[in-house]
Amino acid sequence: MNTRPRQKVLIVDDEPDIRELLEITLGRMKLETFNARNVGEAQSLLKRETFDLCLTDMQLPDGTGLELVQHIQQRHPRVQVAMITAYDSLENAISVLKAGAFDFLTKPVDLTRLRELVTSALLVPARGVGIDRRLLGDSLPMRNLRKHITKLAGSHATVYISGESGSGKELVARLIHDQSPRANQPFIAINCAAIPSELLESEFFGHRKGSFSGAIEDKPGLFQTAHGGTLLLDEVADLPLSMQVKLLRAIQEKSVRCVGGQQEVAVDVRILCATHKDLGTEVAAGRFRHDLYYRLNVIELRVPPLRERRDDIEMLASHILKRLAADTGQPAARLHPLALDALKSYRFPGNVRELENMLERAHTLCENKQIEAGDLRLAEGNCGAEGGVPDLTRIDNLEAYLENIERQLLLQALEETRWNRTAAAQRLNLSFRSMRYRLKKFGLD
Ligand SMILES: Nc1ncnc2c1ncn2[C@@H]1O[C@H](COP(=O)(O)OP(=O)(O)OP(=O)(O)O)[C@@H](O)[C@H]1O
Ligand SMILES: [Mg+2]
Repeated sequence: MNTRPRQKVLIVDDEPDIRELLEITLGRMKLETFNARNVGEAQSLLKRETFDLCLTDMQLPDGTGLELVQHIQQRHPRVQVAMITAYDSLENAISVLKAGAFDFLTKPVDLTRLRELVTSALLVPARGVGIDRRLLGDSLPMRNLRKHITKLAGSHATVYISGESGSGKELVARLIHDQSPRANQPFIAINCAAIPSELLESEFFGHRKGSFSGAIEDKPGLFQTAHGGTLLLDEVADLPLSMQVKLLRAIQEKSVRCVGGQQEVAVDVRILCATHKDLGTEVAAGRFRHDLYYRLNVIELRVPPLRERRDDIEMLASHILKRLAADTGQPAARLHPLALDALKSYRFPGNVRELENMLERAHTLCENKQIEAGDLRLAEGNCGAEGGVPDLTRIDNLEAYLENIERQLLLQALEETRWNRTAAAQRLNLSFRSMRYRLKKFGLD
């Protein structure tokens, strides 16, 4: 029996609904949760229990989350803290990061982000942890990517991070920041696609009280709050053209003027941008300004899709399974060699994120702590050596390529027939003899 103690998380919020939501979500991650309604209760719990992580609201009845972060930094420095804050108090969140918090989330809480944050807070305790332990993969493209990140981290250059959905663009941006001289300053990731267009200008550059209905107080923008640090413009291709002009101006002038304000304020931010779309295509289609494109695309870092670095799949899978085991306090599930084969020939349209989700599901569903190919629920149409029309540029050995396809099809037929070899042979219209020969050839007997 595994007797590893569950990791403990302290939740500090005066709203019962939020506490309950966090408790349920973290409980499902097999974490032990404790609740406090205010700073005072949190401080006494911190004296009694040894926590791994504290998630705190910003506004509390008897103080602020910031005071709690400072208290934890001084008295319980091994405890990670993350802040949950209303969107319009982002500036507070920045001071919290500066005070030493690990990260922050905005309300309403996005549960996927919450789980990602908690996982990294518990597993990547120090910001300075080596890049090769955070951006995994021993394939040549990944080794090159890490080299480029380390080199670029030292410069002030704008970097355009391209890559398919779920391939690790945000992780790359974080690593550039964490390795840079700005590491102790804020890292702000802004999802351009998620902000309503009429709020973009005020979100980016801030606003003065009364400058539009709803502007009830002065508010700094993301450029000001990222001052001294790094600003990731995520999904930048989704910015409307009108906002692109204003962004270009801010980058060129290195200053911003808030909505309703009279004065330009100098800002020092390093800009990184990312999108899963092809920016060149967006420019050609007239949806993205070419002058902004040239400004942003000073250096392009391409994060390769997982199917171009299949050698990394095994290492990633084993890392993810270990993490799931740590999350659940159970022994890690083993990946059956055939399941690994199936993963290695899967197309992974959703890249590393898809692999994470797939293994999480399989880890919960599998029996006897062994993940079989069937537990992975690979999407049809993306299975098989290359998933679709073969691409000649990826084929350097026709025989090996065809054998791989043959092996995958045999496997699928065997799984479909619950490893009844006679039925599998019939399914493929092979004689039993021929089937036996092939099973032997591929070591599947
Ligand atoms: N090389 C890697 N090593 C370890 N974890 C990785 C790697 N690449 C991606 N991940 C993990 O995969 C998940 C998705 O990564 P990330 O959010 O950076 O992708 P993205 O390219 O920004 O995706 P999207 O286009 O959907 O925004 C994260 O949990 C991230 O930590
Ligand atoms: Mg992203």
